[in-house]
Amino acid sequence: KEVKLWGGRFEESVSDAVEKFTESISFDKALYKQDIMGSKAHASMLAKQGLMGDSDRDTIIKGLEEIERQIEAGQFIWRTDREDVHMNIEAALTDLVGEPAKKLHTARSRNDQVATDFRLWCRDAIDTIISHIKNLQIALIELALQNEGLIVPGYTHLQRAQPVLLQHLLLAYVEQLERDAGRLLDCRERVNFCPLGACALAGTGLPIDRFMTSDALGFTAPMKNSIDAVSDRDFVLELLSANSITAVHLSRLGEEWVLWASEEFGFLTPSDKVSTGSSIMPQKKNPDPMELVRGKSARVIGDLVSLLVLCKGLPHAYNRDLQEDKEPVFDSVKAIVGMLEVSADFAQNVSFNRERIKKALPAGHLDATTLADYLGIPFRTSHDIVGRSVALCVSRNCEIQDLSLDELNSLHPIFDKDVYEYLGVENSIKKFRSYGSTGSECVAAQLDYWISKFGIN
Ligand code: ARG
Repeated sequence: KEVKLWGGRFEESVSDAVEKFTESISFDKALYKQDIMGSKAHASMLAKQGLMGDSDRDTIIKGLEEIERQIEAGQFIWRTDREDVHMNIEAALTDLVGEPAKKLHTARSRNDQVATDFRLWCRDAIDTIISHIKNLQIALIELALQNEGLIVPGYTHLQRAQPVLLQHLLLAYVEQLERDAGRLLDCRERVNFCPLGACALAGTGLPIDRFMTSDALGFTAPMKNSIDAVSDRDFVLELLSANSITAVHLSRLGEEWVLWASEEFGFLTPSDKVSTGSSIMPQKKNPDPMELVRGKSARVIGDLVSLLVLCKGLPHAYNRDLQEDKEPVFDSVKAIVGMLEVSADFAQNVSFNRERIKKALPAGHLDATTLADYLGIPFRTSHDIVGRSVALCVSRNCEIQDLSLDELNSLHPIFDKDVYEYLGVENSIKKFRSYGSTGSECVAAQLDYWISKFGIN
């Protein structure tokens, strides 16, 4: 067995069970790029500070580049007995270039190394997620553009409420996604501070330059407190929280579209490209992608909960428990990217059934609130009058606009013949004019905002 990099004070090697249980290489190899980037910056800094010769630095950097090439070519052998990505790369570097590699870990610990790698990884992940959020927003805006003027029932409590423009509803998702992206950007600001040089927890007596490594890695600044730098994973919690909120938004979108694709609603038809069939029922065409978007939100939320529980009992500073921070993050990012991608794909491959929607609109007295607004008497009174009109309609199985003026006036003399200009969804929707409302001008203004923001033509 190879002697561990930390093997000096040990007389026996670890048991197989411990080796298998404590390894993280099976998943943290995903950090190889960040680990190599960090090591190159660290070596350059050590040389600049006179802690390593320039030729050793060059040898190390060349060696690290060769290792990166091998990893990307699938030629690198990841060894479980070398525990994690940091020691795999450092030991492989020693195998490759010999003595100079042994200087690389000067003024560095795996504790600050892993925190640095992980912050770099999260920073990239945030950028990737944001670009997928934007793609979905654009797909939804384009879907809105294809469906100008389409009125759909708006629901509260999943009961018919008021008529809304489909565009208005689609843009509601776009708004939510914009805040999701905003939360990620905000989190990115705090992710982007550099732990490198915090060493194990206390910093070092060696004359390192933490500002230099921080700059080289594109961080805003080195973290001010070395204990904080190696102990906290709040940046991970923020990312997982932001992902969870996005996942909840996407899950609601999934739920809505699954519902709308049902025979009972029949408002929307996904194309074959985004549907799957049943192994037993030949007639089935299921909206599985959106069901899975809803389903995968569970794991994204679970990942956040795992991390919260992981961190809550840890004393300062680094604890090995923190090795468990990676898989939930990898899982969450992979899930959220997939959910965003497939939602955009779905949005590009779905059509709204105008006929079916039109037929559905008369039910549910969607115009009742507009009528109540119109009466021009104290709202509580008009609410009651319209409520009694609706009760009359229910007993006659008709719409409010089917009642004659006499019938309406039998309920209250307030009605005039212009009442019919407010009734029916088409009329009713024209009356909306408050900022952010479903009136066509208000929705057009919202749409214009997004079109120009994303440069859609
Ligand atoms: N694999 C470890 C992790 O992910 C690296 C840090 C280990 N540090 C230590 N002192 N054992 O957290």
